[in-house]
Amino acid sequence: MDELNGKRILLGITGGIAAYKAAELVRLLKKQGADIRVVMTSSAEEFISPVTLQALSDNPVHTSMWDQTISNGMPHIELSRDCNLILIAPATADFIAKISIGRADDLLSTLCLARDCSLIVAPAMNKQMWENPSTQRNIRSLKEDGIDLIGPDSGEQACGEQGLGRMREPDVIVSELLSWFQPKILQGKNVVITAGPTYEAIDAVRGITNASSGKMGYAVAQAAHDAGANVSLISGKTNLIAPPGVRLISAISAQNMMDAVLNEVDHADIFISVAAVADFSVKNPSKHKIKKTEQKLNIEFNETPDILKTVAKRKNAPFCVGFAAESKDVENYARKKRLEKGIPLIAANLVTEALNSDINSLILIDDDGSKTLPPSSKLSQARMLIDHISSLTQ
Ligand code: C5P
Repeated sequence: MDELNGKRILLGITGGIAAYKAAELVRLLKKQGADIRVVMTSSAEEFISPVTLQALSDNPVHTSMWDQTISNGMPHIELSRDCNLILIAPATADFIAKISIGRADDLLSTLCLARDCSLIVAPAMNKQMWENPSTQRNIRSLKEDGIDLIGPDSGEQACGEQGLGRMREPDVIVSELLSWFQPKILQGKNVVITAGPTYEAIDAVRGITNASSGKMGYAVAQAAHDAGANVSLISGKTNLIAPPGVRLISAISAQNMMDAVLNEVDHADIFISVAAVADFSVKNPSKHKIKKTEQKLNIEFNETPDILKTVAKRKNAPFCVGFAAESKDVENYARKKRLEKGIPLIAANLVTEALNSDINSLILIDDDGSKTLPPSSKLSQARMLIDHISSLTQ
């Protein structure tokens, strides 16, 4: 929970109803360890009091160009120096218009013009204002100037209308910032990831699957994407939403997953096989629902292809990473599995701890030995795994 330790963020609040959400945003950013400086426009002060933001940020809130508490009397320069980022949330249509043409007529807009760090804008406005060609023109200008956007979202608006223009929720803004701050250690690499369970049909309505939730594989996809990779996520049935920017390819059975992987892997630099793939498929699945009879039901099985082994054996194989979920003697079994699959790296975990849980602890095993990661969220484990993969593929 301290992924923003050591990061200083200047939060600019402008005058829209979503300004009240800035209080929660400050709280969540502080929880991640960030040092927050708040600057408000005079219209923002109509919606939320600087005292609230001062209490939550633990720092004085600045509202005026003529602030005499700043030692050199130049708050527009002083406040953004040493900042890693200026974030404007909410950013009104008026403020976006202002910075798109480089106007500087109050403290916040002057700070934006005088900045020497990155700027991210989270728009919040009525849908007609958002859709207006002038706003869209201004947004294009911001993008051309290298300014990043978070949102806006679609949904119910304060004015009662429905549509695009809502500020993204504070927790979503924070997770987008966490992604934004990740070092781009896999920039431009093509990464193929499998995730989730497979499903082998017995008949039209029944099948054999397993308890994999897909959470670890989706977290690895998020971490690889945040590290700058182009990610294809080949996933069995899960209840999860693919991380934005990741290409999702659905695969139901082990054979489906194999076909999808072979389609993708030619251009891959890295293949990470997180899926819990069935080892057997039903020999002759019935097209119709099998009826209950006096007779015993006998099901014959075929062995499924080992996707990871097949990919690792290919000429010009990508860097292959396997997962080993074991119920005991994790490290020993995983070591053997790595050699048996012919892969440079395997991530092992205790199946009883990992299944469906949000917390995990991976053991990374490669030619140099093993390294146990301290228990943390699956996303944090995935980030450490990506870091390790990047160090092995340099
Ligand atoms: O042999 P085992 O199933 O324990 O190996 C686990 C690793 O192999 C995981 O990385 C899993 O995604 C992969 N695997 C595969 N194809 C299979 C079975 C497992 O790619 N048929």
